[in-house]
Amino acid sequence: EGLFTYDPGFVSTSACESKITYIDGANGVLLHRGYPIEQLAENSDYLEVAYLLLHGELPNEAEGQRFRDTVKNHTMIHEQMRHFFNGFRRDAHPMAIMCGVVGALSAFYHDTMDMTDEKEREVAGFRLLAKMPTLGAMCHKYSLGQPFMYPRNDLNYAENFLYMMFANPCEEYEVNPVLAKAMDRIFILHADHEQNASTSTVRLAGSTGANPFACIASGIAALWGPAHGGANEAVLAMLEEIGDESRIEEFVARAKDKDDPFRLMGFGHRVYKNFDPRAKVMRETCHEVLKELGLENDPMLKMAQKLEKIALEDEYFIERKLYPNVDFYSGIILKAIGIPVSMFTVIFAMARTIGWFAHWNEMVSTNYRIGRPRQLYTGYTQRDYPGKK
Ligand code: CMC
Repeated sequence: EGLFTYDPGFVSTSACESKITYIDGANGVLLHRGYPIEQLAENSDYLEVAYLLLHGELPNEAEGQRFRDTVKNHTMIHEQMRHFFNGFRRDAHPMAIMCGVVGALSAFYHDTMDMTDEKEREVAGFRLLAKMPTLGAMCHKYSLGQPFMYPRNDLNYAENFLYMMFANPCEEYEVNPVLAKAMDRIFILHADHEQNASTSTVRLAGSTGANPFACIASGIAALWGPAHGGANEAVLAMLEEIGDESRIEEFVARAKDKDDPFRLMGFGHRVYKNFDPRAKVMRETCHEVLKELGLENDPMLKMAQKLEKIALEDEYFIERKLYPNVDFYSGIILKAIGIPVSMFTVIFAMARTIGWFAHWNEMVSTNYRIGRPRQLYTGYTQRDYPGKK
């Protein structure tokens, strides 16, 4: 007792070994299984990255095809799941619905709950990867009161998601390939990020022997907060609140004021003390999407660029090595695609599911112990109940 390291926020504690993702925060490097994120974003699609995260190598053509086909076999959800949606208010936050319905998958797939069985784990992974976009799109449709759209297996992963989000049974819908490509990029850029708060939550939940669906639901809950996955939603809310370029200085001053809890959303990162490499790719994709949609003069984008410039030249942000992170530009892209702000974190969760699953799978297929952090107790010493001896 008393010999434990006190490390609030786990700033200097490695809780596990992992071969999946490497981050060099000082130099802005992110590698998945050794491959730089920029190269994966340029050359791969999301399902190929998913395969890489799970298996450690890029797939050859036959392996890639088999993987894609198997994902397509699992895109539908059980019809009874509709009843879960009906139990929610229409104005429920979609992350609240996702916490519930993803956890509820445990009630449907009793045949893939045994974590000691490699085959069961594999099928659970396919189920999660394939069903997340279906469930995410259902949240959106439910909020509108529109019919749920069944997945279309002739479309790729990102196209199918956009289809389920925006199509309706009454008219033709064609997926815009530029927007689908951007969506796929967003999925790739959010696929994994080693031991962040939600991934650590999934590992901790998994270390108790909880089933994979319950573990992923715990990750979704942890992701929801504005300091983590909720930041993309918070960036848009912030830009809307700033409202006009003339007010940027005022908000930057607020972010620097220690008596004001306001922070620049989409800025700063626990690990990156340099540019977040994902933010660079995201910025490029943002320009592509706005050009495609004829929104190059979008006031929101202009404001974001000006804010970025002012912050990057400001002593406060320079000294603390605060750079734009992945969420700074993703919200602008998603908004331009037509995705409502409340769905932004759901999209992060959909993309991160494969990272969470890969970490859970890595942990349960090696020797591991239940996660059990210790504490520094600062409460009362022992005392007697009033009136008793
Ligand atoms: N605006 C203003 N000041 C900031 C900001 C910011 N966005 N981020 C950090 N700081 C300051 C902070 O006040 C502190 O200053 P001082 O040393 O004078 O007390 C210093 O920079 C270090 O910050 P910290 O809070 O100790 O850093 P952390 O590693 O605990 O927090 C963070 C990292 C991401 C939670 C934080 O930077 C933040 O709140 N950023 C805004 C939210 C955000 O964009 N989150 C998305 C993260 S990337 C996506 C993901 O992985 O989820």
